[in-house]
Amino acid sequence: MKKGIFITFEGADGCGKTTQIELIKKYLDLNNIDNVLTREPGGCDLGFELRKILLHYEKPVSNIAELFLYLADRAQHTEFTIKPLLAEGKIVLCDRYIDSTVAYQGYARGQDIEKIIELNNLVTKNLKPDLTIVFDIDSNLAQSRLKGEKDRLEKEGLEFHKALRKGYLELAKSNPERIKVISSDDTIENIHKQCVELIKGYIN
Ligand SMILES: Nc1ncnc2c1ncn2[C@@H]1O[C@H](COP(=O)(O)OP(=O)(O)OP(=O)(O)O)[C@@H](O)[C@H]1O
Ligand SMILES: [Mg+2]
Repeated sequence: MKKGIFITFEGADGCGKTTQIELIKKYLDLNNIDNVLTREPGGCDLGFELRKILLHYEKPVSNIAELFLYLADRAQHTEFTIKPLLAEGKIVLCDRYIDSTVAYQGYARGQDIEKIIELNNLVTKNLKPDLTIVFDIDSNLAQSRLKGEKDRLEKEGLEFHKALRKGYLELAKSNPERIKVISSDDTIENIHKQCVELIKGYIN
């Protein structure tokens, strides 16, 4: 079976994931390297419906309900989108994946981290990215970059975002082979160059 390459992009809201993932897509397209861009939540049809609830539901959402909505999205997205694309030999670029759930629902919301890792393994049948790029950003800087109306998670306070940042950095420390950290406190172009350097190691 052909095997593609699975690359995920992680970090707090406003750290530059979407900006960088789109630049990487352009870079791969220019070099005629087959790739697909997807995201969580909302990278598949069912996930699109779940994303609407997750980001815009007005009434209180219990922490555990929030966790299982993300996991439901991931189960569907992994089985019907990511795995088939990897089997076709594609490079799959995914905006958020397992580490978001550990950082947000675990570190930032204070739920059991080991259990979330286990649940991630269950819903993905242990599919791990080949490479994960975490954009590390100061919580105040991230807030200042977010324009327009904020979604349900972006509205969380500074303590939430500090715990989130710590979570991502600890995840990187315990998964040094897979997770690479790039500082967001640089120009879009410089960050893009660092991403390209990392990704080159996987596509050559
Ligand atoms: N290195 C940078 N320097 C200055 N501004 C940046 C940089 N990278 C991204 N931005 C700007 O910051 C804002 C947030 O970036 P972007 O949407 O890529 O973040 P994100 O991580 O995808 O956020 P979200 O998690 O909310 O989707 C955008 O307006 C973008 O143009
Ligand atoms: Mg984004």
